[in-house]
Amino acid sequence: MKLLVTGGAGFIGSHTSVKLLEAGYDICIVDNFINSSSSVIDRIKAITNKNFDHYEVDITNKDDLKRVFYNHRFDAVMHFAGLKAVGESVKKPLMYYKNNLIGTIVLLELMQQHCVNKIVFSSSATVYGQNNKSPYNESMPTSATNPYGQTKLMIEKISHDYASANKDFAVMSLRYFNPVGAHKSGMIGENPRGIPNNLMPYITQVVQGKLAELKVFGNDYATHDGTGVRDYIHVDDLANGHLLALEKIFSVTGEHIYNLGTGKGYSVLDVINAFERVNGVTVKYTFANRRLGDIATCYADVTKAKNELSFVAKKDIFDMCRDSYNWQVSKFNTSNQQNLKAAKV
Ligand code: NAD
Ligand code: UFG
Repeated sequence: MKLLVTGGAGFIGSHTSVKLLEAGYDICIVDNFINSSSSVIDRIKAITNKNFDHYEVDITNKDDLKRVFYNHRFDAVMHFAGLKAVGESVKKPLMYYKNNLIGTIVLLELMQQHCVNKIVFSSSATVYGQNNKSPYNESMPTSATNPYGQTKLMIEKISHDYASANKDFAVMSLRYFNPVGAHKSGMIGENPRGIPNNLMPYITQVVQGKLAELKVFGNDYATHDGTGVRDYIHVDDLANGHLLALEKIFSVTGEHIYNLGTGKGYSVLDVINAFERVNGVTVKYTFANRRLGDIATCYADVTKAKNELSFVAKKDIFDMCRDSYNWQVSKFNTSNQQNLKAAKV
């Protein structure tokens, strides 16, 4: 079985590509490396000891992507390619709408022309907006508060409408909660550009001495210790979720939406404590004001993914903190130099 993996050199795409190769799938990665490095391709090969096709292609460029479709007969697409930084999307909305929406429409058009009718799409818990109460389930109303979230919502809607018009088509939109962790080999992981926005990469860089201290955004939320609660999920579990979605997608048509989380919420202080305990380090932090746009609590109802995909996350918060730190200090982590440069600008 041959799969097209868009964005396969990125954080989640690379871990899923490893799992797909290990499970015996034949994959072809397309990535323009706008937020990743071509060296990740070699590392996926080294981890799995398997070869695969790959192209440096921007999926918004139809002529380039067309060539990939002409060279291969795909059975399904795993669609990770997209820009994902919320703050950047507010500053550069056109870039986000163009990349994420045009990229997906071009991809769907080529899938249609080549009779490829199965796609697994990376959606996000961000589509639950700010008005629902955790645990979030898939039938809750959706909304978005920034251009990044809008692109996820719109892509869900586009694929919903396309599925209604094409009876052979199936889309699985997987709404990820907070992906963290890294491959146990320390060879692949998340490579945030510049100073990280997200909690886990920020903590790892504080502990490594690259950043002075963590600012805990708000300690007056209505949570068990006043700090924000999120559903952190190990990227290894997330990758397994994609394999389960793929197994199911060949027996269904239409639109299918699943939360991929653990169903458990951890506060910022819970994460700091787990990180210190499992890694034997101290995380320097101070409390700061709430971050604009943050909510108190966000975690998943995982019943649907469990019942319909048999998906259950296996890794706990200690695994997540250990593997995140292991990646941060790994010799394969090339982000170190970039981060120092960006911090000086
Ligand atoms: P990432 O940035 O590490 O990976 C995305 C990959 O897509 C990168 O390798 C990038 O170079 C590539 N890409 C982007 N635009 C492209 C284009 N036009 N053509 C070809 N390649 C392109 O991000 P990630 O964390 O691995 O996220 C993967 C997907 O999951 C994204 O769609 C993201 O929005 C979604 N998601 C991520 C999170 C998260 O917290 N990491 C949460 C929810 C959803
Ligand atoms: N936090 C801090 N200090 C920091 C960074 C984060 O205290 O320096 C706190 C936040 O206030 C929040 C928690 O840590 O309470 C998690 O914050 P992240 O930035 O790691 O994650 P978010 O839940 O804000 O957002 C992430 C992705 C979004 C995605 C969302 C839901 O960045 O793109 O999860 O999937 F939409």
